[in-house]
Amino acid sequence: MCGIVGYIGNNEKKDFILNGLRELEYRGYDSAGIATLSNGELITYKAVGKLINLEQKCKDFTSTGFGVAIGHTRWATHGKPTEANAHPHIAEFSNVIHNGIIENYKELKERLEKKGHYFLSQTDTEVIVHLFEDYLNDGLDCFEAFKRTIGELRGAYAILLITKKEPDKIFYAKNASPLIIGRGEGGIYLASSDAPLMGYAQEVSYLEDGALGYIDLHNFSSLPNIKQLPQNKGYAQKEGFRYFMEKEIYEQSGVLLETMMGRVSEGKISFENLSADFFDGIGEITICACGTSYHAGMVGKYLLERYAKIKTNVVIASEYRYSSPVLREDELFIAISQSGETLDTLEAIKFVKPFGNKTLAICNVDNSSIVRECDEVLLTRAGIEKGVASTKAFATQVMVLWMLSTYIGSIRGNLSQKEVQKNIEDMVASAKRTEISAKMHEKIKRLSKRYLHGHGFFFIGRDVFYPLALESALKLKEISYLHAEGYPSGEMKHGPIALADSELFTVALMPEHLLYEKIKSNVEELSARDATICAVSALEFEGADDMLYIPSCSSYMEEFFSMMCALQLFALEIAIRLGNDVDMPRNLAKSVTVE
Ligand code: AGP
Repeated sequence: MCGIVGYIGNNEKKDFILNGLRELEYRGYDSAGIATLSNGELITYKAVGKLINLEQKCKDFTSTGFGVAIGHTRWATHGKPTEANAHPHIAEFSNVIHNGIIENYKELKERLEKKGHYFLSQTDTEVIVHLFEDYLNDGLDCFEAFKRTIGELRGAYAILLITKKEPDKIFYAKNASPLIIGRGEGGIYLASSDAPLMGYAQEVSYLEDGALGYIDLHNFSSLPNIKQLPQNKGYAQKEGFRYFMEKEIYEQSGVLLETMMGRVSEGKISFENLSADFFDGIGEITICACGTSYHAGMVGKYLLERYAKIKTNVVIASEYRYSSPVLREDELFIAISQSGETLDTLEAIKFVKPFGNKTLAICNVDNSSIVRECDEVLLTRAGIEKGVASTKAFATQVMVLWMLSTYIGSIRGNLSQKEVQKNIEDMVASAKRTEISAKMHEKIKRLSKRYLHGHGFFFIGRDVFYPLALESALKLKEISYLHAEGYPSGEMKHGPIALADSELFTVALMPEHLLYEKIKSNVEELSARDATICAVSALEFEGADDMLYIPSCSSYMEEFFSMMCALQLFALEIAIRLGNDVDMPRNLAKSVTVE
């Protein structure tokens, strides 16, 4: 959450800062701000809402000559998305930006207010700049004042601070929020992820937790762990689609094949960087993730237990580390994340590491914090995912988990060569099933107009179709703002069926190849109570008000991927009809780096 960028050099400061913020806007779009310091002048611009508003506001502003600059795009945590709460936060002669949460800000604020500091915002961040200036007023030099300030903060942060007292430096601190410093021909560049740095910096240092210091034009070489930065950004463009989310739904067949490439061939599965002995002695698996990645993890549990025959637990990252979990010595900890920066998941890995358990990341972003924290990684190869509502990342996560369970099943002798071969054929066929036909999309577009009202949606399914039901409900909620829940279909009769009436939409996931008769009975129970039923299936179901047909498939996993696409499009078309910004839905952000 929140994106931060910084620059030191002679170029137009606004250029890198605004371009960088554009790259990071997915992290939050409640407000944005920029501050430049050159020729002794500290100038700050802020605007509420998307970055475009800030761009408009400072369109006539230029800053020539040597100077420093910082920029921020906000996902609100403390205080509403107002201009006063937008970063940078300002004291007498310094500005600060921050990603994360300062947990003890209230006590610090009270103390500073008693000393005469006047606060303009409701944010936790503003205490940082006041505390810094307070220490300066006590006679400390800037670095010492910054160190003392950071020493008093509790919580997660990536902080950049500039001050008129040292106009050639940016002070930085990092704890549990990502921060990268780069050097290029134009000067020094800082950002929350490497995407904004590409095309500007040639070499970068990925800061570790606890990093605290200042950067100027001369001390980059003293940073730890300097690496060359790849320059192939692979810009994501909408390419004629209405939204990135739509484009990403259409990309799924391609990225699924990409995910399999080099890993699946001639009746065998292997992973480029993982040898079979990594799984030696593993007796249990815990999968940890949030949101959509958690749903992929739930699918993974069914597949790992079915094919690898390893007992698998799936845990929500934000619940995990505070729940006194009991870890077995032979337990493999798998963290799943699209962004690789989700703080809840990252902190769960850090919690597990001291126990000495093996850790494996399933992640879409190489070099991200989660990848760096884990022993091994399986990259999902979905490409850049811009839509806040995750689609192709989910598809590739499920594919990696399916490949992994088949791989473990084969090295442990739990699957015969024939069974491995069958899974591989089904994988290839499943990728094919995610090609979107114009006919199906058109049908969903038409169907969507009947589902804009009502008092809620139930998505129901069994086995792997239960997590798919949860995921489909999440997709709909995120972008349409309609109430939707996912349930195991057999669970409806234990309570939720009380809600059934004609204004309750039930989207029933009815695969031909997995427990069809069982789910059919569950849907009939709802139909008998007059719930409006939309059946997603290759088979006609008489009790349905609407049929969302998927093509006839030869395996349940093909049906899984086919239904996944249909239900992503269903959510998309409903949200578009409701006039919502599908790629930047309200209250959400792409990368969630707060607890
Ligand atoms: C998905 O549509 C969501 N926006 C969200 O649930 C997301 O999956 C979750 O925040 C986890 O993110 P990660 O995969 O980047 O860790």
